[in-house]
Amino acid sequence: MQDSDLLSPDVFRDQRHHEVFEYLREHDPVHWHTDSAGVGFWCLTKHADVQMASREPETFVSGAGFTLVDIDPENLQGMMMQQMLPGMDRPQHTRHRRIVSRGFSPRTLRMIEDHLALKAKTIVDRVVGRGSCDFVTDIAAELPLQAIAELVGVPEEDRRKIFEWGNAMTGIDDPEFGGGREANHAAVEMMAYADELRRSREAHPRDDIITTLTGATDGADGLSDAELAVFFILLVVAGNETTRNATAHGMRALIEHPAALERLQADLTPDRIGRAVEEILRWASPILYFRRTATRDVELRGQTIRAGDRVVLWYASANRDAEVFTDPFQFDPDRAPNDHVTFGGGGPHFCLGANLARMELRLIFTELITRLRGVEFDGQVEMLRSNFVGSIKHMPVRWDPDKALASP
Ligand code: HEM
Repeated sequence: MQDSDLLSPDVFRDQRHHEVFEYLREHDPVHWHTDSAGVGFWCLTKHADVQMASREPETFVSGAGFTLVDIDPENLQGMMMQQMLPGMDRPQHTRHRRIVSRGFSPRTLRMIEDHLALKAKTIVDRVVGRGSCDFVTDIAAELPLQAIAELVGVPEEDRRKIFEWGNAMTGIDDPEFGGGREANHAAVEMMAYADELRRSREAHPRDDIITTLTGATDGADGLSDAELAVFFILLVVAGNETTRNATAHGMRALIEHPAALERLQADLTPDRIGRAVEEILRWASPILYFRRTATRDVELRGQTIRAGDRVVLWYASANRDAEVFTDPFQFDPDRAPNDHVTFGGGGPHFCLGANLARMELRLIFTELITRLRGVEFDGQVEMLRSNFVGSIKHMPVRWDPDKALASP
């Protein structure tokens, strides 16, 4: 067991992390991992511990940083991270979350559902006759992009920018996406764009999240200019890549488990697609971890976590914990119950977009499962170099265009 394993984006790119986590859950579930600076961090690898730390926000705070790298408030990205929901603690987090939650109400989601259902159908219509495509760029990337754009009210002609900004922000460790050079540039452009959106909604309020968050229509407590710009960036980053990856990992799992795919194709009831989506989420774990910092000494499984220590909640590990999931390395679309922690382990930071992501996955997989026949890989699956998001960059696939079915 190499101690440096979990800091290397290559371990995740090459999908070796599951081996590392399996070992840790068994032999060293609360593991102290050193880093090159000699600082180090605790790795929580068990499901119960990830839930516990998520639900004790006074003991495990987010304000000192939510990624492995400490926040440097001197640079632009550090400054932004401090002002993002995942990097806030009470009471600032409570106020901010209350305001932005308005934009994710069941009513808002119902309003965009029909539109997204139509988009999901169009995405598949566009490629189905071709018989092959890059699943990531041609299919998986599209619906999350459209969902954010719908939610925020970004016009059609600007939607490509959102895709590119998102890639630049999350592909920091990957040379294909500029290896970090592009990230600052993208952040600056997104802030300017959010500002434009705000000004336009102040002049002409609409039924969208930007109007809601600025408090433009009802005079309610709204976000400041800076808060709104940072929240816009968070949405683009948090809402795009994550759901894209869940979609790509889900298709990969279905191709690798043809019997499971056939079972779904034979009988795709609403319950069944719901369960399949939960299993895809568990299997994919698109966000590998979030980090907290301990505010007091805590005894856990024989280890002493000291006040000030960095504590990493490995969702990707908790989701394969045999104490919670029977045959955790088995992809089972009928798995129930399925208490995965893909959206977090509960507590105040639980993913705000979980219901939106579930809706998107249900819509796109309904189309894919019912319409594509004989799907298989058509080249190498390429992973992103990152130890934060488990992304598939490219996944060539092919299917039988003559057997493709019309939309359900
Ligand atoms: C499959 C897709 C997604 C996954 C796997 C995912 C995962 C996560 C995780 C693990 C967290 C942190 C939870 C914690 O610290 O306890 C989180 C937070 C968050 N997510 Fe998601 N997410 C997804 C989709 C989305 C979407 C579609 C949106 C919005 C459009 C979104 C918006 C957010 C926001 C705003 C937060 C911060 C919440 C807070 O700190 O209070 N996510 N997400």
